[in-house]
Parts: sequence; structure tokens; C-alpha cells
Amino acid sequence: MRLLTTVAGLRTYLASARDKQLIGLVPTMGALHQGHVSLIRRAMAEVDRVVVSIFVNPLQFGPQEDLAQYPRQLETDAQLCESLGVDAIFAPTPEEMGVNPQSEALTQVIPPAHMMDSLCGAFRPGHFQGVATIVTKLLNIVSPDVAYFGEKDAQQLAIIRQLVQDLNLPVIIKGCPIVREASGLACSSRNRYLTEAQKKEALALYQGLKAANQAFLAGERQTQVLIDRVKHQLTPHSAITVQYIECVHPQTLQPLETIEEAGLLAMAAYVGSTRLIDNMVLRVRKPIIAIDGPAGAGKSTVTRKVAQALNLTYLDTGAMYRGMAWLVLQSGIPINDESAIAELVSQATLEFIPSNNEQPPQIMINGENVTQAIRTPQVTALVSPIAAYAAVRQKLVAYQQELGKLGGLVAEGRDIGTNVFPDAEVKIFLTASVQERARRRLIDFQSQGQDKIDIQQLEEDIEQRDYQDSHRTLAPLKKAEDAMELNTDGLTIEEVVNKIIHLCQLK
Ligand code: PAJ
Repeated sequence: MRLLTTVAGLRTYLASARDKQLIGLVPTMGALHQGHVSLIRRAMAEVDRVVVSIFVNPLQFGPQEDLAQYPRQLETDAQLCESLGVDAIFAPTPEEMGVNPQSEALTQVIPPAHMMDSLCGAFRPGHFQGVATIVTKLLNIVSPDVAYFGEKDAQQLAIIRQLVQDLNLPVIIKGCPIVREASGLACSSRNRYLTEAQKKEALALYQGLKAANQAFLAGERQTQVLIDRVKHQLTPHSAITVQYIECVHPQTLQPLETIEEAGLLAMAAYVGSTRLIDNMVLRVRKPIIAIDGPAGAGKSTVTRKVAQALNLTYLDTGAMYRGMAWLVLQSGIPINDESAIAELVSQATLEFIPSNNEQPPQIMINGENVTQAIRTPQVTALVSPIAAYAAVRQKLVAYQQELGKLGGLVAEGRDIGTNVFPDAEVKIFLTASVQERARRRLIDFQSQGQDKIDIQQLEEDIEQRDYQDSHRTLAPLKKAEDAMELNTDGLTIEEVVNKIIHLCQLK
């Protein structure tokens, strides 16, 4: 592992990797704990080179805040990173980062005022401007493909997503779930300031959120009632002084009176003199079942049947990619003109109409129903190369996530559980041995009257496809850490479907 402290050193280190490898950045202020570790692990699983930045950013601390006391322990942090397999730590000095809180001269990034008015922003003037400025600088210095942030700092995450969009920064931002100690207390670098007695008191924060969530699950949608539930849990704890408890829209951070789709219930409280934050997203969402796995494992048939049996929507992602291939074919744009295809696809309107009793799912592109037109051999031949283009993938993933907001769907693909719906309630990794998949494909060919197929050749093709799919830079085939593997060797489709339904019921 490299420990780099200068911009020049880091840029030189990364230069050789740039074109060939995916680079991931985990920005931190050090004093690493299990929350940081979860971000690092996620990055390790998804990209080729992981850079962890450790920088206690003076710009985000107010004059009365704990900048001087903030824990600094580079050596211990470096050992932890090394043991996790991190490739490089970037730990610059404030001078190297060009930030001097006394200086007025620094160009700063100012997030939208309405995103800083609520929650922590109201009590920490200048904080998010300091965060936005330093994160922009780090993203410019490292130029990662992906950057990882924790949902623990939900307002920070929403602001960073917005700034990346508004400043057109070419990076994917990934939010990672809150990691808690066994007691339920959210991990934080500031927990070390708490005495054992204060730690026990601090548990009331999470208990408050859980009580509100219970009321929410029982149908309560008025945010004031939900906030009162949290307050009620905190009242008996005299050591806790609440700074705020609010419920806002998770993306725009606008205060909500009622929750329609989702609400971010967030709070800050002092336990003694230590300021802690915690939150929970309350979501009106039916479950999502994500089915990934190698080609030829029977994903699409199984997915369709599972959706039918559980009365959920079958999200036909394959048809969406076909739709994009059809669009390119129609336009006459040569398949290798990636920028023209990016333009075409970015401007297209896509609509997926789920199946109902009368008809299978329908695909509309630019207002035209192309459900039949996408099934031609010409389209089939184009799907794979078109789906490999980043702009196509980006467009469809964003659309699928939009459709997923209310949940209630079953989807299959190569990266549905890892990338499209990483928070899916049920994730299945459907596999079958190469021999079994070759045997199934042979039966398919034979049923189409083709009997001169060499099984050996089929096996080789499948092995090659597996290798390609799991080594793609974009959306590689990978089993999500929390996916359940289901080997379908020797099972009929009905048996596989029943097993999945059973797994869903167990969840
Ligand atoms: P820091 O507080 O060190 O946190 C670094 C990252 O770890 C943030 O994205 C934060 O949300 C995440 N994190 C902290 N505790 C977590 C937990 N319990 N579960 C999951 N993720 C957790 O946040 C900052 O530093 C700074 O503001 C920074 C983004 C580095 C800019 O200076």
C-alpha cells in the first residue's frame, strides 16, 4: 500500500492505472471505524484501485467546533487500510490541499441554499460549503470513477449527489448503509468521547428512530406524529439535549408534512458535550427481488414466473436494452459511433408499461410502441454491443431505479443486485454449471431443428462468455455479498421458482 501526501505523488501513482482500471475513492477524516471499513470493503469489491483519503478538513469546522481536538491517528488508520487491501492512502497537509481557513481567497463551492437550510445546515453555518469545496477538490485530484459516502451523513450525501450533478463531475456517487455497533449506536469517530454511561444513554437515538419506523410501518404518514415518537423515546434521558429532529425529502432535503414515497427522519443531539447524528429513511416501498447470475442460468424465464407467482411487476430490463438497440438501428448511426449514440440515447424518452392480464409488458420509445419491433434478429445482434456503452447503461439504470422507487418488482440482469438495486430486499444469484447450461442450450437448439451442434463447443462458448461478463469494466457480473446463491443444476424451472418464492417468504 502507498501512503501519499502530495497531489503530484498521487496523480503520478494513479496515471498508469487511469485507462485500464476503475479507480474508487473513499473520502474520510480518519480515526477510521467500522462505518469507514464498510465503505472501503464496498469499494474493494467494486473497483480495481481503492484510494482512501484522510484529511481533517478545516473548512468544514465552525469556530466553536472541535477541529483541534478531532482525533488524528494516521499510523493506526494506515495499518487498518493495509489489512483491508487498500491500494493507496492520500493524506495531504492543509497547505498541500491549499486550504487555509483564515484566507478569504479560496474559491469555494456553495451548495443550493435550500439544501443547507434544514437539518445540520441550520446549526452549522458554512459546514456544507466546506464539505462541498473539499469533496470537489478531492474528486478533481483523484478523478475516481466511483466515490463512496455513508448514509450516516445523509444531508452530506444528498448535497454531494447534487453538486456532482450540477457541476457535471464525471464520477458515480455510491451511498452505503449506516453501520451500527452491536448495541444499535451508529459508528462515529466521535463515539470515543462518550463514557460508558453516555453510550448507554445515546442508544435512545436509535430507539427513537425505530419507534418512529414502527409507527410508520403501521401506517402513520404525518411527520409531526413520527417526530413526536422520537421525542417521546428521548425525553426520559436527561443527558441528551436534542438539537433537531426533522423529516425531509431524502433527495431535495425539503421539509415534509406527510410522507408520500420516502422521508428522511434525521436528528442531532448532544450527549454530554458530544454531538451525535443519526437517521433513518422511512420508505413506502414494496419489496424488490433482484436476480443476477451468468448467462444461460435461466434468469429471464425464472424471473417472469416469480413475478407472476408473487403478483409483482416483472421489470423486463432486457426489453429496455433491446429498445435502445432498435433506436440505434432506426437512426442509421454506425454502431461504432459511440458519441452519436450517446447523444441519441440521452435525448430519447423511454416508457415501460408493466404486463397486466391482457398483455405482456410494453415498451414505448419516443412515443412509439416498439414491443414487437424489438424482437427482430437485427435488433438481437445489436443488443450486446449497445448495452456495453456507458451512456446507454446510465440512461437505463437511472430509469430502472426511478421505476423501483415504489418497489414491488422482480428484475434480472448482470448487475441488478450489485448496481441497479443494491438495497433490494431479496437478492438471488442464479447459477448452473457450464455443463448443465450447455446441455440446456443443446436441447434448445435441437427443439429448433438444429442437431449438428457440438456440445464441447457450446461449453467453451459459455466459459468464454462467463469470463467476459465477469471481467467487464462496466457492470461486471458479480455475486452481491448479500445475495443467496442458487445452483439450478438438475432442477426444473418450477422447482427453481418455488425455491425462490420460499426464500422470499423467509426474508
Ligand atoms: P468522516 O466523518 O470521516 O466520514 C467519512 C465517510 O464515512 C462519510 O461518507 C461518512 O458518511 C461515512 N461514515 C461515517 N460513519 C458511518 C457509519 N456509521 N456508517 C456508514 N458510513 C459512515 O464525512 C466526512 O468524514 C467528511 O465530511 C468528508 C466527506 C471526508 C469531507 O471532509
